[in-house]
Amino acid sequence: MNPALTQIGAQMSNLTGVRAIMKDIIETLQAGVGQEFMNLSAGNPLILPEVEQLWRHCTAELLASSEYGEVVCRYGSSQGYAPLIEALANDFNKRYGLNLKSSNILITPGSQSLYFYAANAFGGFTNNGELKEIVLPLSPDYTGYGGVCLVPQALKAYKPTLDIDAAAHRFKYRPDFSQLSITESTGCVIFSRPCNPTGNVLSDDEVRKIAALATPYNVPVLIDSAYAPPFPALNFTEMTPVFGENILHCMSLSKVGLPGERIGVAIGDESMIQVLECFQTNLCIHPSRYGQAIAAIAINSGALAHIAAEVIRPFYQQKFAVLENTLDAAMPKDLPWFLHRGEGAIFAWLWLQDLPITDWELYQKLKQVGVIVVPGSTFFPGLREEWHHKHQCLRISLTGTDEEIVKGMKRLAQVTEQVYQQAIVTA
Ligand SMILES: Cc1ncc(COP(=O)(O)O)c(C=O)c1O
Repeated sequence: MNPALTQIGAQMSNLTGVRAIMKDIIETLQAGVGQEFMNLSAGNPLILPEVEQLWRHCTAELLASSEYGEVVCRYGSSQGYAPLIEALANDFNKRYGLNLKSSNILITPGSQSLYFYAANAFGGFTNNGELKEIVLPLSPDYTGYGGVCLVPQALKAYKPTLDIDAAAHRFKYRPDFSQLSITESTGCVIFSRPCNPTGNVLSDDEVRKIAALATPYNVPVLIDSAYAPPFPALNFTEMTPVFGENILHCMSLSKVGLPGERIGVAIGDESMIQVLECFQTNLCIHPSRYGQAIAAIAINSGALAHIAAEVIRPFYQQKFAVLENTLDAAMPKDLPWFLHRGEGAIFAWLWLQDLPITDWELYQKLKQVGVIVVPGSTFFPGLREEWHHKHQCLRISLTGTDEEIVKGMKRLAQVTEQVYQQAIVTA
């Protein structure tokens, strides 16, 4: 059977960005059964015992309560499970001195769906045929933004500027405000903070500046806080969540141990929340409620924020330290390699300036020595212009064991050195 597909059908059946690479990685792992692989490609968080125990404990509490039937045996409101919305409003009001009401919060089945709603409610063609763009102010950014818009040409990403510390072999991306354009043809703005894949954290000032550029045009600014405080608190540098009239603070509970339960949260002005809620009603009625119910328990008791700051953050921060120390010791000093400052998330991002081969070719060479990372060029959704830098980066996951990270980075250093040397020999 080969059903005819619509334009949207064809577009949506493509694997975009990192999903396409993941298929290659799974095939490599299956074909190489018995071979030793250091798989540093995963975006899937690890199961940390304290985190799993928290969810077990909350599940036991839910099972024992009279609320259980209400949670799993009945439909609920499209906006989300009321006790979770209340728990979030109370927590954020107390923590950040806000004045949130339940109408400022929407729960979605994972935050990916939230970006899908927003990208199509605010981006794409208006009734009078005008194209509203979805602006990604700093590219590279989350690969999942690549597939969210039903009008793909609406996605527009901007090249950043680079802060380079050559002696330390470190760098950091910054938004290029001399290029960034937010106008009446902007539908919405999206960026992740901390950023997947780079671990970059935009400063509070940079965020306020982006929000201020969008304010005169009533443009929603979605701040993807999948790694931000208060949970999962995967920031290794100081950062404050920024709120404002045109800001949608978007969260995910995936990195606090519930990726399987699919819980996303949008916090913002009622006018934006209502649009997204209607989208959700049409799409799926409401997100599943079991995960929401255990999340409400963990937020109300304070355990979620505590475990995030005391267990999840130090775990990944230590992994980053292992990775950076190994690279510092193993990478040749005279090569132009630059590690992005590790400010958060669960990845390291390595830039190999003037790399003589493409990131894809390097990925293949690394696979041959048992090291699996993700070629960086998959993380530039919406960037229309050609840019050499796009083919000179790798994303390395911090979900490996310390041994895998050390061994993987040593092998990466050897392969990289050979690649640059061969280029000199053949030049
Ligand atoms: C930056 C970022 N945003 C959004 C998501 C999607 O998360 P979920 O749909 O599980 O909430 C991810 C997942 O890895 C991510 O890294």
